[in-house]
Amino acid sequence: MRKPIIAGNWKMYKTVSEAEELVKAVVAKLGDYDEVEVVFCPPFTALAAVKQLIKGTRFGLGAQNLYWKNEGAYTGEISPLMLKEIGCDYCVIGHSERRQYFGETDADVNQKVKAALDAGIKPIICVGESLEQRESGQTESLVRMQTEKALEGVEPSLVPQIVIAYEPIWAIGTGKSSDGPDANRVIGWIRDTVRARYGHETAQAMRIQYGGSVKPDNIKEFMDQPEIDGALVGGASLDPESFVKIVRYNQ
Ligand code: 13P
Repeated sequence: MRKPIIAGNWKMYKTVSEAEELVKAVVAKLGDYDEVEVVFCPPFTALAAVKQLIKGTRFGLGAQNLYWKNEGAYTGEISPLMLKEIGCDYCVIGHSERRQYFGETDADVNQKVKAALDAGIKPIICVGESLEQRESGQTESLVRMQTEKALEGVEPSLVPQIVIAYEPIWAIGTGKSSDGPDANRVIGWIRDTVRARYGHETAQAMRIQYGGSVKPDNIKEFMDQPEIDGALVGGASLDPESFVKIVRYNQ
């Protein structure tokens, strides 16, 4: 049985004091609710403060990006070792906003995935098609290719630590979500791609999330699908009420 994982990708929102307020509210409301693994992905500047608040709890901490070298003259970048030292468990890698605005390629994503795993950080790899790609029938080939390239050369024993997030670009921040059966079908293709390379057991062990306009009123539709193991939540993770409702989708 795969344990569902719901992560809040805060993107470039929340100062340190705002981050502390949000995390305190979520932690207080969720108590010891343990049916879902919950991960906070604040901006770099708030990682250490959030870690202080969740130390010794079941809540996970994730960064939103990293560079693939452990140190060096790479002005403005943050290394996997730096993230590990402050207690990051996860790192979002290859989000469509990074691919779109910062020119990240599949090869970059692959380097970042391997560097994260080397440092003991679990990647949350984002894949997903644009509206144009969807309308021209390329969704399946694109998500399969993004998945294959992201995983190229990854040691098979490390693959079950990886989380993949299927985030159709047209559904991000638009209020226009995919629907359960459609997201389930695409996630099935992603799992099948993992199966073809790493075998059935590994593919069955890997958790694959849906992301894109996930809200309290549509989370259940996604979580009810057999292939969907959680959600990567943007906007609705910035408000404690809505994030907690999403995490408690089953209640
Ligand atoms: P929204 O939930 O705001 O659509 O963002 C989704 C996302 O990009 C999470 O990584």
